Amino acid sequence: MKINPFRLERFFDKYEFKVKYVLCSSDCESLAVEDLLALEPDVSAQLNKLWLGYTEYAGSPALRLAISGLYERVEPDQVVVHTGAEEAIYTFMNAVLSPGDHIIVHFPGYQSLSEVAAANGCEVTHWTTREEEGWELDLDFLRRNIRPNTRAIVVNCPHNPTGYLMDASKQRELVEIAREHNLLLFSDEVYRELEYNRADRLPAACDLYENAVSLGVMSKTYGLAGLRIGWAASRNGQVLAKMVAFKDYLSMCNSAPSEFLATLALHHREKLAARNLEIIGQNLPILDRFFVRHRTIFNWQRPIAGTIAFPSLKTGQPVEEFCLELVDQTGVLLIPGTLFDFGNRHFRIGFARRNMPEALAKLEEYLAART
Ligand SMILES: Cc1ncc(COP(=O)(O)O)c(C=O)c1O
Repeated sequence: MKINPFRLERFFDKYEFKVKYVLCSSDCESLAVEDLLALEPDVSAQLNKLWLGYTEYAGSPALRLAISGLYERVEPDQVVVHTGAEEAIYTFMNAVLSPGDHIIVHFPGYQSLSEVAAANGCEVTHWTTREEEGWELDLDFLRRNIRPNTRAIVVNCPHNPTGYLMDASKQRELVEIAREHNLLLFSDEVYRELEYNRADRLPAACDLYENAVSLGVMSKTYGLAGLRIGWAASRNGQVLAKMVAFKDYLSMCNSAPSEFLATLALHHREKLAARNLEIIGQNLPILDRFFVRHRTIFNWQRPIAGTIAFPSLKTGQPVEEFCLELVDQTGVLLIPGTLFDFGNRHFRIGFARRNMPEALAKLEEYLAART
């Protein structure tokens, strides 16, 4: 398969581990192994004894049990563990969709949610959302764009890069549309549990709809990207069987230490999520005040959930130029919207890292020096 480069990841490859201030990360502040092991007595000894043979294809029973605990109506055997959410996206788009199928994908968005299907010969319609409309998903657009060969709707809420979250009534309507047209619903929920207001949390799509796949990961809400553990949860057994069989050609099965640590972390997931929401809760008001101070330069829409937002430049300067100059002169990294194939005005900013205030202060110094 020939596939276009993943623009965001190529950009990160160039800068992420070299610059001083990564002000655009989508994952939460990470932890060390010892922090996880401190969550329970005796786990260090269990980890020392962990057998390093091949692991079960769909994931360890203990991990699948812990993951099923995130959902209301999903059993452990309705979960397939992958190497990150990224692998689960790749697996779904290849194993479940066929060339000639049509999908409708939330846009702008995480590139692999549309790119992998396109590379697999699928027709892809971007379900475009706009800043002026509060990044709202328009269900009429969805209805108008369903075709005889439409196979799946792909949504991501809470959303990367805008921080948008649809409301529960819209989600129910979305599920009704999918059901009426017998479509799969691929629901990327990797930022779930990072709602600033608990009442905004949506039910997982896999609980609401028998043909939905909910995507989850350890990287974002729990701050454990280095484990590279993600999963697909669905009550559609055929979809999961295809995914697990396709995975034989990728990671096949998961890293045993990562599965062990992910299971441990999920047993304490509320604590980890609360810690990360606290960091976000400290950083977001700082960001709000920054954007009030600089309202002549930026449009700012406060996100509803998650770790990132997608403000835009009012000045007319191409945002790519702005971001590249900024990183060259200050070591502060923002992601230009060009990498999301979404014009040259928006940029992604992240606020789930402890050093965000320091990075923002550097950005502010840079702005002051320019005027
Ligand atoms: C919306 C979305 N889905 C999936 C992923 C992939 O997650 P991971 O890199 O942990 O596999 C990301 C990562 O940024 C994301 O933002």
